[in-house]
Amino acid sequence: MFTAVMPKLYKNFIDGEWKEARGGKAFENRNPANTEEMVGMFPTSGEDDVNDAVEAAKAAYPAWRLMPAPKRAEILYRAAETMVTRKEELARDMTREMGKVLAETRGDVQEAIDMTYYMAGEGRRLFGQTSPSEMPDKFAMSVRSPIGVAALVTPWNFPMAIPSWKMMPALVCGNTVVIKPAEDTPLSTYHLVQILTEAGLPRGVVNVVNGDGPGAGSSLIHHRDVHMVSFTGSTDVGRIVSSACAPTFKKCHLEMGGKNIILVMDDANLDLAVEGAVWGGFGTSGQRCTAASRIAVHKSVYGEFVDRLVERVRALKVGNGLDPETQMGPCINEQQLKTVMKYVDVGLNEGAKLACGGHRLETGAHGKGWFHEPTIFTDCQPRMRIVQEEIFGPVVAVMAVDGLEQGISVANDVKYGLSAAIYTRNVNNAFRAMRDLETGIVYVNAPTIGAETHLPFGGIKNTGNGHREASVAALDFYSEWKTLYVDYSDRLQRAQIDNA
Ligand code: UN1
Repeated sequence: MFTAVMPKLYKNFIDGEWKEARGGKAFENRNPANTEEMVGMFPTSGEDDVNDAVEAAKAAYPAWRLMPAPKRAEILYRAAETMVTRKEELARDMTREMGKVLAETRGDVQEAIDMTYYMAGEGRRLFGQTSPSEMPDKFAMSVRSPIGVAALVTPWNFPMAIPSWKMMPALVCGNTVVIKPAEDTPLSTYHLVQILTEAGLPRGVVNVVNGDGPGAGSSLIHHRDVHMVSFTGSTDVGRIVSSACAPTFKKCHLEMGGKNIILVMDDANLDLAVEGAVWGGFGTSGQRCTAASRIAVHKSVYGEFVDRLVERVRALKVGNGLDPETQMGPCINEQQLKTVMKYVDVGLNEGAKLACGGHRLETGAHGKGWFHEPTIFTDCQPRMRIVQEEIFGPVVAVMAVDGLEQGISVANDVKYGLSAAIYTRNVNNAFRAMRDLETGIVYVNAPTIGAETHLPFGGIKNTGNGHREASVAALDFYSEWKTLYVDYSDRLQRAQIDNA
């Protein structure tokens, strides 16, 4: 269990300096595909470290707020340029700490690049409205104002993309940041912040505290000088974050669980639907909020679809994501693997048919990591737990439906509402689905994953609390509207009274 070289000790980033945790403790970041490999040690932060970080962010805010937005954006632009040149190295490090295959970690870094360029462009827009006043000689407009210190609590499944989704709009709007990355993937945030610093970000504008939720996250979201919190993670933790924000009315953005469905209609291109189901269900080992963990298939093509899907999934190569042959990596950690194994038992006990997979992979090289076979349950019923609950692993539940109407009602019969997809070549089916599926994102003839950075991302019901990430929608979270009236009439003009 020991590596020959001393693991690198990474530090927190507070007020422009790399610092150990005040308590002097550190935690291990190990490769989930080979737990003998230590990626690095990271500080176990507590309340004192969080206080230092928030204080630095608070102190940096007045100057950052007043820096013209296009200047702030230039720093982001330069950071994106560096990410482009370092993309491969960033992706490799991400695969080492997170496990997903290189093609996907390259995509993750690319998503961060896209978001950074996009938000850099927003620095020269950040548009508000101008509008005619109802009074003569009066001018009316609205502008976006920054809010203050943003606390960002990010997950491990998109270690660079999601921190960028939050950090870049927060910064371009003029806020300062304290980020607590997931303890399974802190290295990618380290790289991101180092790149931003090299690009010229002034000290204190972004601060990083590493550690776990109870130790670091909790003091961060409760801190009185934090004005807004953006969290991506489980619905259970999201509820805690929401309650922590409520007493002082912190602005709170939550992006939580999903139980996303693919509907396959009888007129679908089945080859395309099978390919989409494999990618949507087993990409990132099913560890995406947007993963397609349910598939509802029209009964007239059910048998054929299931046969083709199972054949494809059985052939998936599971292993270390750095190996170019690998198609699916490990679960992120032991606890997540155990959750997957628990749900396999749940599915079996509920009477679902195990069509493939169902076991941990623990022989040979697989024994060094948290690997699980890609698993398909067929003949599922809509109310089974494996169809209702988020598993966040390589387990897909397939069921038959007798048409579009039943498909949509099954799709909507879960507590989550992030993403949904329909495969059909019938335009009427497609438009009905787009209208009636209760999710924040709907795909037609594409799987449930693959969101692009310039369009709103987020969900309804237990997935979100009404905000969206990415696109201009993110600016609505990270800024406050300020409405400005300028009266140049030189007399008192009473709106709603003098002009009635
Ligand atoms: C997530 O699942 O947590 O659309 C984010 C996608 C990615 C982002 C997913 N672009 O699947």
